[in-house]
Amino acid sequence: MAEPLYRLLYRSKVAILGTTEEVRAEVAAILAGARRHNAAAGLTGALLHEGATFTQVLEGELPALEEAYDRISADLRHTEFELMQFALVPERGFGGEALAFLAPAELDAAGLAAPGDAADAANGVLRRMAAILGRQQAAPG
Ligand SMILES: Cc1cc2nc3c(=O)[nH]c(=O)nc-3n(C[C@H](O)[C@H](O)[C@H](O)COP(=O)(O)O)c2cc1C
Repeated sequence: MAEPLYRLLYRSKVAILGTTEEVRAEVAAILAGARRHNAAAGLTGALLHEGATFTQVLEGELPALEEAYDRISADLRHTEFELMQFALVPERGFGGEALAFLAPAELDAAGLAAPGDAADAANGVLRRMAAILGRQQAAPG
């Protein structure tokens, strides 16, 4: 039988200093390292960089996910780390890539905090990330 799968979802504030270009370059460096590591650890997920906020979902087996969580949450390139979900899941919702990069064309109303409890908020964020990922995959080029 397959090992149980877990999902981590958090939000944080970008703490990278510099020009827009410098921030972009640092995010690209984060992505390159993260993809290498996640691929080796059997983790998949997506990172949304939107203004001053990172939102990341990561899925995989517990030891690999906990190890990544410890490193990511200690990374000084972001602050105000806010864990939104760390839960057992029946299957991967973001299984396509080691770390997809989500770059929404525009801020939409769904990105604003919705009223409701923490589980509602986490599910709303996950739905929005899946929608952005779907739009990116559908886009030509
Ligand atoms: C917003 C953000 C997301 C990150 N996501 C991941 C990730 O998914 N996987 C990962 O291994 N490292 C991720 N990192 C990087 C880790 O915090 C850490 O810097 C890195 O794993 C260290 O690897 P290295 O020693 O190979 O450079 C992320 C960092 C930030 C700031």
